[in-house]
Amino acid sequence: MNGSNLLARLVACSVILGVARAVTLEVREGNSTCIKADLSASFSISYNTSNTSTTVQVNLPDSTTVDVDSSSCGSEGRPVSLVGVFGPGHTLGLFFSTNGSVYSVDTLSLQYNLSDSTLFPFANSSDVVTVMTNSVGMSARLNTTYRCVSPASIPVGGATVTFSGVRMEAYMTQEDLSPSESVCMADQAFTTATPAPASPTTTTTPAPSPTPPGPPEQGNYSVTIGNDTCLMALMGLQLNISFNSLSQNKTVQKVVNIHPNLTVSTGSCGQSISTLVLTHEGNTNLSFTFTLNTTSNKYHLSGLMLVADWPDMRVSVSNSSLSYLASSWGRSYSCNSEQTLFIAEAFSVNTFRLQVQPFAVTSDQFATAEECQVDQDQMLIPIVVGAALSGLVLVVLIAYLIGRKRSNAGYQTI
Ligand SMILES: *[C@@H]1O[C@H](CO)[C@@H](O)[C@H](O)[C@H]1NC(C)=O
Ligand SMILES: *[C@@H]1O[C@H](CO)[C@@H](O)[C@H](O)[C@H]1NC(C)=O
Ligand SMILES: *[C@@H]1O[C@H](CO)[C@@H](O)[C@H](O)[C@H]1NC(C)=O
Ligand SMILES: *[C@@H]1O[C@H](CO)[C@@H](O)[C@H](O)[C@H]1NC(C)=O
Ligand SMILES: *[C@@H]1O[C@H](CO)[C@@H](O)[C@H](O)[C@H]1NC(C)=O
Ligand SMILES: *[C@@H]1O[C@H](CO)[C@@H](O)[C@H](O)[C@H]1NC(C)=O
Ligand SMILES: *[C@@H]1O[C@H](CO)[C@@H](O)[C@H](O)[C@H]1NC(C)=O
Ligand SMILES: *[C@@H]1O[C@H](CO)[C@@H](O)[C@H](O)[C@H]1NC(C)=O
Ligand SMILES: *[C@@H]1O[C@H](CO)[C@@H](O)[C@H](O)[C@H]1NC(C)=O
Ligand SMILES: *[C@@H]1O[C@H](CO)[C@@H](O)[C@H](O)[C@H]1NC(C)=O
Ligand SMILES: *[C@@H]1O[C@H](CO)[C@@H](O)[C@H](O)[C@H]1NC(C)=O
Ligand SMILES: *[C@@H]1O[C@H](CO)[C@@H](O)[C@H](O)[C@H]1NC(C)=O
Repeated sequence: MNGSNLLARLVACSVILGVARAVTLEVREGNSTCIKADLSASFSISYNTSNTSTTVQVNLPDSTTVDVDSSSCGSEGRPVSLVGVFGPGHTLGLFFSTNGSVYSVDTLSLQYNLSDSTLFPFANSSDVVTVMTNSVGMSARLNTTYRCVSPASIPVGGATVTFSGVRMEAYMTQEDLSPSESVCMADQAFTTATPAPASPTTTTTPAPSPTPPGPPEQGNYSVTIGNDTCLMALMGLQLNISFNSLSQNKTVQKVVNIHPNLTVSTGSCGQSISTLVLTHEGNTNLSFTFTLNTTSNKYHLSGLMLVADWPDMRVSVSNSSLSYLASSWGRSYSCNSEQTLFIAEAFSVNTFRLQVQPFAVTSDQFATAEECQVDQDQMLIPIVVGAALSGLVLVVLIAYLIGRKRSNAGYQTI
């Protein structure tokens, strides 16, 4: 298989996955959480009808819940496991183990009920089929979150499970996903390819300036868990990136607007970390991580990651030590003016007409906004000018009155 074939398959894959919704699953024992997983998954399952063999594509639905009886935090010698259940007896199971420094998914299981005629119409059998594999390839250092935004397909028996947008931790010691991450090879592979700092050959022939596409449309994005909207964002987004173009064989700079109606938003909400993941045209993934400092009750945008799979560029860039868009718990943050968020040497994001609230959203409404400095300064200009003008009027008026009084006095003495 040649490279372009692989790329086409990857793009097709992400397009399908763009539709898959993120699901958040949590295993608790007593009052503490031991596994939390935020992921999208889809299954490709083959089955027989009376006259033919067919394959269906199934997404892990929003309505997936944790099967409390089959899941465990490891008490009574049971494996640390997360089993999600959906529909009439379909399950997805992740069984973990650790060696004291690394934890990994030992076994992945998939159970599907062929009696479910909505998923498996005309199935030849009504069996409940269970398939599993020990070749999963998901592992992370203890006390870190396993992160893999790139799609990863795992053959399980005759089926294939494809995960994407995964943020997951097992053997947790705190309530929420750890802010430090173990990034999967697939996400890292993108990084090694590009973006590259301009090479000597490209500095002699400077990159052509891109024609700016104009300001982006304002998108209305949100994260909804169950019926609860827990994160809201209104914003126009523009990506500005330099990369080594595969087709042109040189460094090019590209300015890309995110079109809201070609963008799917998913994400997760936690007590101190919330994420918003935007999937644009199925080949661009932007992930925003907001962190709340529970001591000071202030939050900020702490991380941003881009994974793009464009015709002439595959890239993953991220920075998890940002401090942009800072505001207080129970407030939103707004910035009407254009703002540039520098993420990496070759990558920045311009925001336009932005208002976000990643924590404490109630009844689908933004709380009072804390405004960015630029907006405050712009508000200040008319106030200062107004104050100066009224000051001037006052001075002229006083001078006039004094002058009139003096001349009146003058008349009287005459
Ligand atoms: C769990 O939480 C409840 C209520 O918050 C509390 O009463 C109980 O003592 C806690 N149990 C443990 C084991 O911490
Ligand atoms: C479909 O039927 C054929 C022939 O009976 C069998 O070999 C095959 O394993 C079946 N496939 C599935 C997915 O059950
Ligand atoms: C479907 O089931 C029937 C019997 O129930 C069997 O004769 C037939 O071979 C099966 N077809 C396939 C494709 O497996
Ligand atoms: C196979 O079976 C389905 C449903 O029973 C029927 O609609 C279809 O026409 C059949 N196909 C063939 C090639 O017999
Ligand atoms: C399989 O699906 C059928 C029909 O929806 C249901 O009656 C049955 O209980 C399911 N089996 C399991 C193990 O859930
Ligand atoms: C745990 O496993 C990882 C990866 O297999 C290995 O690098 C590490 O040395 C192991 N640690 C211990 C304490 O065995
Ligand atoms: C993970 O965190 C817990 C509690 O903070 C600590 O006891 C443990 O040693 C840490 N483990 C590793 C491998 O860092
Ligand atoms: C954003 O979308 C929500 C839900 O669809 C809607 O209630 C809200 O009015 C929208 N906000 C704007 C500014 O369009
Ligand atoms: C969500 O809303 C629907 C309809 O508004 C309602 O039937 C359902 O019970 C709600 N679910 C939850 C978990 O509140
Ligand atoms: C890319 O450009 C460099 C320098 O101009 C050249 O050496 C190299 O052969 C080119 N690669 C391709 C695939 O055209
Ligand atoms: C997407 O937005 C553009 C304008 O930005 C509009 O022309 C187009 O019709 C929209 N497409 C859909 C499917 O709403
Ligand atoms: C949280 O805020 C407090 C008080 O401002 C500060 O001392 C602390 O370092 C902050 N914690 C983190 C993790 O940034």
